Amino acid sequence: MQFKEERTFVLLKPDTIQRSLVGEVTTRFEKKGLKLVAMKMMRLDEALLREHYAHIADKDFYPGVEAFMKSSPVIAMCWEGLEVVQAVRILCGITKSRVADAGSIRGDLAMSIACNIIHASDSVENAKAEIARFFTAEEMFEYKKSDYEDVYTEEERA
Ligand SMILES: Nc1ncnc2c1ncn2[C@@H]1O[C@H](COP(=O)(O)OP(=O)(O)OP(=O)(O)O)[C@@H](O)[C@H]1O
Ligand SMILES: [Mg+2]
Repeated sequence: MQFKEERTFVLLKPDTIQRSLVGEVTTRFEKKGLKLVAMKMMRLDEALLREHYAHIADKDFYPGVEAFMKSSPVIAMCWEGLEVVQAVRILCGITKSRVADAGSIRGDLAMSIACNIIHASDSVENAKAEIARFFTAEEMFEYKKSDYEDVYTEEERA
């Protein structure tokens, strides 16, 4: 990383693949100007899900979340950019999709609170832990992206 950029972790949930929305969602991050630094398709098992969703593991709705997240493959991604954790959460919209802001991913593409298209890290600290949980160092890519760094002002870079 060249300056004070952050990285965030994103999961395209099973409904995104089932509904053929992988391109639609990924395009939004590309158009926003984020840099893709890792991506892979995978199946999530119970142990990984319990770790990832530790903050909701004792909720009544958790078994449903786990069954849904195991129901078909997901796509894990890592995106880089200035204040990207917050930027991606804004792009996603709130958990309850049917009342998420129009224009957001959940607001435009989903109605459910559970099947809500996407997971995104909610803090820089959690992003670091989630990236380490889902990707090995070899799966993360450092490269120069020609249309990327120039969009930031000197002040933003400082
Ligand atoms: N009341 C609920 N009923 C059913 N599923 C829920 C409910 N609340 C949350 N979930 C599911 O658990 C996930 C994690 O909940 P969390 O509170 O972390 O929301 P989030 O941060 O918006 O979503 P995510 O962590 O997936 O990005 C939600 O995305 C959703 O799939
Ligand atoms: Mg969350």
